[in-house]
Amino acid sequence: MRALTNILVTGGAGFIGCNFIHTLLEKKSDFSGRIINLDALTYAGNPANLKDIEDRFGGSRYFFERGDICDRSFVESLFKRYDIDTVVHFAAESHVDRSILGPEAFIKTNVMGTFTLLDRARNAWQNASGAMRQDVLFHHISTDEVYGSLGDTGYFTENTPYDPRSPYSASKAASDHLVTAYYHTYGLPITLSNCSNNYGPYQFPEKLIPLMILNMLEGKPLPVYGDGKNIRDWVYVEDHNNAVWTIMQKGRAGEKYNIGGENEWENIKLLNVLIAIVSKQAELNPDKVRAAITFVKDRPGHDRRYAIDCSKIKRELDWKRTVNFDEGLSKTTAWYLSHQEWVDSIRSGSYQNWIALNYGAR
Ligand code: NAD
Ligand code: TYD
Repeated sequence: MRALTNILVTGGAGFIGCNFIHTLLEKKSDFSGRIINLDALTYAGNPANLKDIEDRFGGSRYFFERGDICDRSFVESLFKRYDIDTVVHFAAESHVDRSILGPEAFIKTNVMGTFTLLDRARNAWQNASGAMRQDVLFHHISTDEVYGSLGDTGYFTENTPYDPRSPYSASKAASDHLVTAYYHTYGLPITLSNCSNNYGPYQFPEKLIPLMILNMLEGKPLPVYGDGKNIRDWVYVEDHNNAVWTIMQKGRAGEKYNIGGENEWENIKLLNVLIAIVSKQAELNPDKVRAAITFVKDRPGHDRRYAIDCSKIKRELDWKRTVNFDEGLSKTTAWYLSHQEWVDSIRSGSYQNWIALNYGAR
C-alpha cells in the first residue's frame, strides 16, 4: 500500500504542476496529506499560480520551497525535513523552441535534475542493509514527444521505440531512461506517464493555445509555423492530472502509461476553431481576427504528427477523460479573459511572438 502522505511536487509553480496542486488539495477527497512544492521559479514558474492555495493551506498542508532540483544537498534536506514518501516530478524546461535556441538548460534541468532527484530518493528510501521501501513512489511526468514524429497513420503505444528529434524531447527521453534504470537497478518504485499536448488555465503564453488567445485579444499577429498542417493531440490539463493521480494510486510499479486526448488537430484548423471561440467570448470580429494569421518560418526539425494510443490506462486503471475540446477551449479562453492581473504579472517577460522574433520572417 502506497503512503501518498508527504508528496514532493517538483515544478509546482508551472502550468501542469500548479493545476495538479489545485486539483489534489481542492478536489480529491481521497488525499489528506501534505504537498511540498519545490520550484526554482524560472521564467515559467509563477508564485501567483498558487496564491489561493498558499492562503488556504499554507503552513498546514502546503509548503513552498524555492530551489533547484539539481541542488543535491537541498533536495536531500527536503526528503529529511518533510519525511517525503512520494515524488511527482513535473519540473522541466518544457518549450521545444527554447530548446532549439538554447539546449544547455534542458540538459541541466531535465537530465541532471532528474538524476539528482532519483538519486536522493534512492538515498532516502533505502535502509542501511540496502532494502528499498515499497510504500513509496517516484512518479515521472514525461511527454509523447520522446517517441518522435508520425506519418499520416499510426499511434504511439507504450512500446513504441524512442526517437526524439529536438533537444527538449531528447532530454526528456534521457530522463525517462534514468527513471526506468533506477527501477531495474535499485528497485526504486517508479511509475512514468507520457502525455500529449496539454492546454488549460495557467499555461505560459509561449505555447500555441495561450499565445494565440492573448495575441487575438491584443490584436497581434497569429504566427503559424510552416504550412500549419502539423498535427497535435490535445488533452485538457485536469484530465491529464486526474490520470496522474490515478497512476499514483493504482499504477503498477515499474510501468509506464500513455495519456492522451484522442483529439488530433492540424494547427491551422485548431486556430480557426479558437478564433471562433475567442471572438464570441471577447466580442471581436472573427474575420478581422482571422486576417491576423501570419505564416512564419518553420521550426527546425518540426515533428509532423503526434498521436497517442492511451488504451492501456483506460483498460487497466479505468481512467476516463471528462472534458471535450469545445468545452476545454471555452473554459481556457474564459480563464484568460478573467485573469488580466495574471497576464500582467508575466507580461514583463518578452513572450509576445517570441519565436517569430527569433526565427525571423519567412
Ligand atoms: P512549465 O514550463 O509550465 O513549468 C515548469 C516548472 O518547472 C516551472 O515552474 C519552473 O520554474 C520549474 N523548473 C524549471 N527548472 C527547474 C529546476 N531546475 N528546479 C526546480 N524547478 C524548475 O512546464 P509544464 O508545461 O507545466 O510541464 C510540466 C511537465 O510536464 C514537464 O516535465 C513537461 O515535460 C511535461 N509535459 C508537458 C506537456 C505540455 O503540453 N505542457 C505535455 C506532456 C508532458
Ligand atoms: P507548442 O505549443 O510549442 O507545443 P509542442 O511543440 O510541444 O507540440 O506547439 C504546438 C504546435 O503549434 C506545434 O506544431 C508548433 C505550432 N506553433 C505555431 O504554429 N505557432 C506558434 O506560435 C507556436 C508557439 C506553436
